Amino acid sequence: MMSLRELALLLSLTVALLSVAGFEPLVYKDCGGQKGKLLSVDVSPCPKQPCPLMRGSTYTINVTFSSGEDSTSSNALVYGILAGVPIPFHIPESDGCKSGISCPIKSGQMYTYITKMPIKQEYPCMKLVVRWKLQDEESNNLFCWDIPVHITDG
Ligand SMILES: *[C@@H]1O[C@H](CO)[C@@H](O)[C@H](O)[C@H]1NC(C)=O
Repeated sequence: MMSLRELALLLSLTVALLSVAGFEPLVYKDCGGQKGKLLSVDVSPCPKQPCPLMRGSTYTINVTFSSGEDSTSSNALVYGILAGVPIPFHIPESDGCKSGISCPIKSGQMYTYITKMPIKQEYPCMKLVVRWKLQDEESNNLFCWDIPVHITDG
């Protein structure tokens, strides 16, 4: 059997290897899905954290979640949170059913939501938190997450 010391060494080696290989998992905060469970969030490309978002570039968002209910529709709401105040952020396609989810959504099923996030040239360069919600037909959250980002020119 492995000793605690050996286990700790193995764990730290694994963490070191993962970070060298660039597989550092994206740190996100689950801000609550009353009607679903958030399973994974990916923003790509995001080579370091907070994710540097270049003005004029487009990023891919990939979220997996499981639904706790049936819903005919799903609608994404995106905010930039600045000093605690959420400011609505426009995305080109807010319909989740046109973003990789086959609707109607069924309770107990797992879904992959994939969409684009363009960073417009006119956005100010700053650090902020992006909050992304996907809501059902009754405006309850299927998922909600926050990630810190840095809007930049490089
Ligand atoms: C989205 O993320 C899931 C879970 O990590 C992964 O299995 C899937 O391949 C990803 N899809 C795309 C198109 O990147």
